[in-house]
Amino acid sequence: MNVPFVDLSRQYAPLLPEIQAAMTRIIKRCAFIIGAEVKEFEDHMARWMGLPQVCTVSNGTHALYLTLKALGVGPGDEVITVPNTAFPTSEAINLTGADVVFADITPGYFNLDPGAVERAITPKTRGIIPVHLYGIPADMDAFNALAGRHGLFVIEDTAQAMGARYRGRKAGSLGTAGCFSFFPSKNLGAFGDGGAVASADPELIQKVRMLANHGRKEKYTHEMIGTNSRLDTLKAAQLSICLDCLDDWNRERRKAASLYDELLEPFEEIGRPHVPQECEPIWHVYVIRYEKRDELAAFLKERGIRTGLHYPLPLHFQPAYASLGLGEGSFPEAEKACREVLSLPMFPKITPDEVRAVAAAVGEFLKGRKKAG
Ligand SMILES: Cc1ncc(COP(=O)(O)O)c(C=O)c1O
Repeated sequence: MNVPFVDLSRQYAPLLPEIQAAMTRIIKRCAFIIGAEVKEFEDHMARWMGLPQVCTVSNGTHALYLTLKALGVGPGDEVITVPNTAFPTSEAINLTGADVVFADITPGYFNLDPGAVERAITPKTRGIIPVHLYGIPADMDAFNALAGRHGLFVIEDTAQAMGARYRGRKAGSLGTAGCFSFFPSKNLGAFGDGGAVASADPELIQKVRMLANHGRKEKYTHEMIGTNSRLDTLKAAQLSICLDCLDDWNRERRKAASLYDELLEPFEEIGRPHVPQECEPIWHVYVIRYEKRDELAAFLKERGIRTGLHYPLPLHFQPAYASLGLGEGSFPEAEKACREVLSLPMFPKITPDEVRAVAAAVGEFLKGRKKAG
């Protein structure tokens, strides 16, 4: 059985008439920039988050970058984050002129280690960016406590965790600000790029809003240097329709993850994702660990099963960070994770038969290896 890594068409098929009607209305009105639908979506998302305000921007990278700018981060500052994340997390820090400081992840878990963060704090540290990687919340109590003790901000990189909960509260509403990506394959995906910033602090949101619109509140008065990072009206309308489905889609992902858990449990060689008790993940991706993951991925591909890698190279090994001089062994847990992780097919409309086919193929691979070895 062929199993795609992600199939968006299945989730959009029943929504297309509604989305097309909304888009036709906007096209007839020709209000493509900051049309009414942008505010409608922001209000909708704010209600869904349980926060007073949300500001949309043009992508998740800018959500992080503009939040950092709004918090006054710039040259001479340091911001701490993980090396096993998408490149934009650290890139956003560099875009402000500040320095990225990496800290390792907790063993057996894919998220930032609070102990490692504390050791990385210097007088130049302004804040921490924990990433809720794969849709599993990071240890927010620990980061908020650290931030309180050292006078730091905490920006949650919630790009992969929209709808996840930590001690019953939504990821992205737990720190100074939460930054979201609506990249098409994210749990809430746009028909193109998109992003948002959520915060309980109305001044911070107002500043991000101005920065995303050339530093202005009013049409002809620019109070600061900003940029153009607005979410298109067409995408806002589509996202608002899809947001009504997000809780269901996340439930479907949870069901698929439970089935993977159950079916993979007998395979001792395979590391299944660890979920701390206080976390309710939303399985942006379902990631297993296995020493020979490239061989397993190749075997699955031969059988028509597509997999992904999140992420094969820790950020400190990226050519763009060569000048940091961080060699092998700098962050051993993150480096090991990058060598072993393999993302299995995961999307809301994946069928139980597809999950079973993936698990059966993993079993077949392991059996073959045992026989050969
Ligand atoms: C963890 C993480 N942070 C930030 C981003 C950046 O989001 P975008 O692609 O919308 O710029 C992504 C998405 O690629 C991501 O997965």
